[in-house]
Amino acid sequence: MATFDPFADFRMDGHVALVTGGAQNIGEAIARSFAGAGARVMIADLNGDKAQATAAAIAGETGSDVRGLACDVTNEAEVQACVSETARAFGGLSTLVNNVGWGRAYDDPLSVTNEEMIESYRLNTLSAYRMTEACRPHLLKADNASITNSGSLVGVEPAFDFIAYSAAKAALNHLMLGLAHYFARQVRINTVLIGTVLTEGYAAAGLDEKAQQDLAHPDSLTGRAGKPQDVANAFLWLASPAGSWMSGQTIRVHGGGRRIRLKPE
Ligand SMILES: NC(=O)c1ccc[n+]([C@@H]2O[C@H](COP(=O)([O-])OP(=O)(O)OC[C@H]3O[C@@H](n4cnc5c(N)ncnc54)[C@H](O)[C@@H]3O)[C@@H](O)[C@H]2O)c1
Repeated sequence: MATFDPFADFRMDGHVALVTGGAQNIGEAIARSFAGAGARVMIADLNGDKAQATAAAIAGETGSDVRGLACDVTNEAEVQACVSETARAFGGLSTLVNNVGWGRAYDDPLSVTNEEMIESYRLNTLSAYRMTEACRPHLLKADNASITNSGSLVGVEPAFDFIAYSAAKAALNHLMLGLAHYFARQVRINTVLIGTVLTEGYAAAGLDEKAQQDLAHPDSLTGRAGKPQDVANAFLWLASPAGSWMSGQTIRVHGGGRRIRLKPE
């Protein structure tokens, strides 16, 4: 009989995870993976009703204690209250996922107003900073404490149409690298550079069907757009004990990128 279980290190029993923006899509898949691996999970989302409905569904699917609450991650008081409530409800907090973020496309990358630039930074960067600050006392007490961030490929490769979003996600990478050094040997911090996972958000960002299909990179090495679960699998690796030798990294999860050069057929 086999005695070695290669999946044992991916279990998250004993962990308490806070997933921001977890009511749908990528954040929902992350919450489901963590709960399925045994973690207790709090989903914090601007849409509190949806967070609770998603949490109840995941609890039913996984048997884990999953709850939802309303929180605007750009509001400092709400961030503090959300973290306090999570730690109170579950008796601690070991695992933070800063997943909230988004942006919009601009035909003219020099038409972004100062206010829109600052808003993008507030949503994509500052929210993760404030969440980290609020979680610090709890993370410092936890085993295998980690922060994993939903970054974007456009935070390392130019996307002139998503200029405000790209700049904010690039700042997130650097911010989190600095904090990974500050938290060395105490809290592991990694950022996943996510490629295109087609969601309703792309139309909302101003992209038509053709632009969305182009973004899905049919010529990438894997030939398809990502699914939320493709991304969640990386988060489970990084946040679970399986990722305990990973910190201060930006990891590309983007279908392999474009096919720039192939071996002649
Ligand atoms: N979908 C992609 O192709 C893609 C690509 C690269 C990076 N990402 C990043 O991955 C993350 C998740 O992407 P997604 O497509 O699943 O997003 P999504 O827009 O589908 O979901 C985001 C969730 O965040 C919530 N939210 C929005 N503003 C909030 C706020 N101020 N406070 C709390 N909750 C808030 C929304 O209600 C929603 O439930 C984002 O950071 C995004 O930038 C996504």
